[in-house]
Amino acid sequence: MNKIAPSILSADFSKLGEEIIAVEQAGADYIHIDVMDGQFVPNITFGPNVVEAVRPTTKLPLDVHLMIVDPDRYIGDYARAGADIISVHVEACPHIHRTIQLIHSFGVKAGVVINPGTSLDSLKYILNDVDLVLIMTVNPGFGGQSFIEEMIPKMVELKEMIAATGKKIEIEVDGGINEQTAKRCAAAGVDVFVAGSYIYNKEDRKAAITSLRNAIN
Ligand code: DX5
Ligand code: ZN
Repeated sequence: MNKIAPSILSADFSKLGEEIIAVEQAGADYIHIDVMDGQFVPNITFGPNVVEAVRPTTKLPLDVHLMIVDPDRYIGDYARAGADIISVHVEACPHIHRTIQLIHSFGVKAGVVINPGTSLDSLKYILNDVDLVLIMTVNPGFGGQSFIEEMIPKMVELKEMIAATGKKIEIEVDGGINEQTAKRCAAAGVDVFVAGSYIYNKEDRKAAITSLRNAIN
């Protein structure tokens, strides 16, 4: 079954714990945490202490998306804070193979992320080693942007690459996900759907998650 990962980037930060409990009760599968450093992307968000603070509020896996330069410096901190999945951008890692091993050394699942302009070729020699590939469907940095249509064939191609490995590697999409775009990504073979503004901008989070789930399954 496909998974829904609400991004807390669009939550009300003054009551983050409640915002996480609300989406867990509404049927979310992962909690997606967008970490931004003001360098790799123009925005600044959550340090490891925020991950540590929200860890006890939910049993759901914490899916930590690092949009930071040289993420090796902080992988241990986010792992110890309670991350279950740590994803890094190939664009931010000169030694991506080593970085994936570093994530695994903490007993955490490793994901790799590619920006809209980055080719799937960058994954060729590391695909066997990862648990998840995140295809950005917007340029990272902010919530509420429009889905980039050209990413659909990228998903289809990645699905074929993963099938060739014979391994269970999840495909996740992030950015501009709503009922319509999610449906098309599901048809392209996507497993995990990150949604920020679509879920948190709605008063009724349960209704939002239910309609998204109906669109993807
Ligand atoms: C963008 C982040 C996303 C963001 C998605 O840089 O990685 O996770 O929260 O927001 P929406 O769903 O509003 O496009
Ligand atoms: Zn994200």
